[in-house]
Amino acid sequence: MEVVIAPADELARLAADAIEERLRREPGTVLGVATGSSPLKVYDELARRHAEEGLSFARARAFMLDEYVGLAADHPQRYRNVVEAELASRVDLAPGALCGPDGLADDLPAACAAYEEAIADAGGVDVQILGIGTDGHIAFNEPGSSLASRTRIKTLTAQTRQDNARFFDDDLEQVPRHCLTQGLATIMSARHLLLLATGRGKAEAVHQLVEGPVTAMWPATIVQMHPHATVLVDDAAAGRLQLADYYRQTYASKPGWQGL
Ligand code: F6R
Repeated sequence: MEVVIAPADELARLAADAIEERLRREPGTVLGVATGSSPLKVYDELARRHAEEGLSFARARAFMLDEYVGLAADHPQRYRNVVEAELASRVDLAPGALCGPDGLADDLPAACAAYEEAIADAGGVDVQILGIGTDGHIAFNEPGSSLASRTRIKTLTAQTRQDNARFFDDDLEQVPRHCLTQGLATIMSARHLLLLATGRGKAEAVHQLVEGPVTAMWPATIVQMHPHATVLVDDAAAGRLQLADYYRQTYASKPGWQGL
C-alpha cells in the first residue's frame, strides 16, 4: 500500500495521471467509478483532459461501485444519474459503457449476481476509484461486512445516512435505507485501487485503513491485503496517521518514472 499526502487538487491530478496513463496504454480499460464528494475533482480533471488534451474514453467501460435501492430512475441522487452527470456525459464514454447494479430490479439478488457476471465478462476492473466513509466503509460495505463479500443488498448505517443527508436537502427521511453494493472481495479483484480521502472527518477512518488491524469492523482495512493500492489523502485526512512523516519521505524520494 502506498500513502500519498498532498493537497486535494494535486491528489486529483495524480489519480487522473494514473487513469490517463492506463487509458493511453490500453484504450479498452475498465474503470471502476465511485460516487460521493471524494472523486469529484478527479472527474473534473478527467473531463478537462478530455476537452483540452484529447484524452479519450471511447473504448473504455465504467462499472459503478454501488446504487441506492428504490430511487426513481430520474432521481438526481440515483448513483447512475450522478456518475452520468459528473463523468460520463462530460467525456466520450460510449452509450451503454456505464454499468451499475440495478437498484430498481424486481429481483435484487438476481440483479446482484448479474452485475458480478458483467464485471467478470468485461475482464474485471483495471483501475478502481474509491472513497471511504467516516465509519470505514468502502462502496457501501458497512462495518461488519464479510471480507469475502460479493455484490449484494446492504442496509446503510445511521451514520452513513446522516453523512449522505446533505445530498437529500438535509432531510434524513429522504435518504434510502438500502443499497446494492459491490462486495469487499469484488473490490479486491480490481487490479489497481485508488482511494481518495480529504478532510478531518476522514482522519480516523484513514488511520484504521492504513494502520489498523484488518477487521470487518473497519471494512476498508481489507485494502491492506491488496497488491496494488494507492491511498491519496490531504493533510487533514492524514491527521491521525502515526507514520505520516515516513509516508511523506517515502513519496518525496520516489523515482519519477515509477508512477502510482
Ligand atoms: C459511493 C461510495 C462510498 C463513498 C463514501 C465517501 O459510491 O462508494 O463508499 O465513497 O461514502 O463518500 P464521500 O466521498 O461523499 O465522503
